Amino acid sequence: MIKIAPSILSADFTRLGEEIRAVEEAGADYIHIDVMDGHFVPNLTIGPLVVEAIHRVARQPLDLHLMIEPVEPYLSEFAKAGADSITIHVEATRHLDRALQHIRELGCQVGVALNPATPLQTISELLPLLDRVVLMSVNPGFGGQSFIPYLLPKIRTLHQWIRDQGLTIALEVDGGIKVDNIAAAAAAGADTFVAGSAVFSQQDYATVIWQLRSSAENAYSG
Ligand code: DX5
Ligand code: ZN
Repeated sequence: MIKIAPSILSADFTRLGEEIRAVEEAGADYIHIDVMDGHFVPNLTIGPLVVEAIHRVARQPLDLHLMIEPVEPYLSEFAKAGADSITIHVEATRHLDRALQHIRELGCQVGVALNPATPLQTISELLPLLDRVVLMSVNPGFGGQSFIPYLLPKIRTLHQWIRDQGLTIALEVDGGIKVDNIAAAAAAGADTFVAGSAVFSQQDYATVIWQLRSSAENAYSG
C-alpha cells in the first residue's frame, strides 16, 4: 500500500489548520511534520506547541521527523503533543538503541532517518526494532530541493533487506519527490513518500496527490 505524506514545511503557515484539513481531504495518508533546530540542520521550524495545535485539527496520523540534536530530552514532549510516529536521525544520537526504545515506550511508532551520505549499515542490526526507515533523498533542512539520484540503489538495498528478513517496515523517502520521479523511487521499493513542495505548490491538492499515488502504485516493485 502506497502512502503519501505531505510535508507541511511548504504549507501556508498563516492558514496551517486549513492547509492540513485540505491535504487530508485531498487524500493525504499522514501529515509529515519537519522539526528543525538550527543546530543539527541549518534551519529552525516548529516545536511541541505547534505539534499540539496541529494534533487538535488533524485527523490523519502525525509523522514527526525530528532533525534535532540532542533529541532524547524532547521525545516525551513530542509524544505528549500528539505524535503518532517519531523518526529520529541516526546521526543525531550516540545511543540510538536507547532512544528508539524510549520512543516505543512512549507508545509511538518508531522511525529512523538516514542522511543521504549515511550508509545503510548503520541500521542493519536494528531493523526488527523499527516501524519505518526514512531515507533522506536531499540534505535535510529545506523544502524544494532536488532528489539525489544515488538514493535509488540505497532504496533497492534496504527494500531487499526488509524483504529478506520478512519484516513489516515502511520504507519512506523524503526530499525532492515529484510526480515525475516518484515512480523510480517506488520501483526501487519505497512505499511511503514525503512530498512538500510538490503538493503545496499546486492549487489542486487532490489532483497532485492522486498523480503521486497512482504513479507510485503502478511502479511499486512489491
Ligand atoms: C527536508 C524535510 C523534507 C522536506 C520535503 O529536511 O525533511 O520533509 O520538507 O520537501 P520537498 O518535498 O519540497 O523536498
Ligand atoms: Zn521530513
